[in-house]
Amino acid sequence: MPKIFSADSFQHSDNELKRDYFDRHTPVIECADCVKEGEKLFVKVRVGNAYMHPDEGDHYIAYVQLWNRETLLAETRYYPGTLGNVPGNVEVGFLVVPKVSMNLVAMSYCTKHGLWQSAPRMVKVVHENLDCKNDNQIN
Ligand SMILES: [Fe+2]
Repeated sequence: MPKIFSADSFQHSDNELKRDYFDRHTPVIECADCVKEGEKLFVKVRVGNAYMHPDEGDHYIAYVQLWNRETLLAETRYYPGTLGNVPGNVEVGFLVVPKVSMNLVAMSYCTKHGLWQSAPRMVKVVHENLDCKNDNQIN
């Protein structure tokens, strides 16, 4: 079983190098808090927030996965040079149609530093006659 790093591991660290290391590997989910039953939900995953990750021949983000609890919903693969061989933040958008409310988690894999898990993201699914109150807009 691989070790899985998560966002909780660094949030309260005062060490700048540690924050950089964790931040640039940790996926972040952006999506609406609520979607109507049967509608498509756009889920954006970005790896790294304040810090960029290398894109080198032996050190790059190789894949990003989107999970709903224990179910793998979608994944995308990357190869060296996807970001032009310069540091950057991998970003990917997934369209999913949830049937029931979800607890989303994203995973990213660095070829040198292993497997990283996002903070969980709850998405409520409501009947088409009800309104969604969304506090989050995707950029
Ligand atoms: Fe890395």
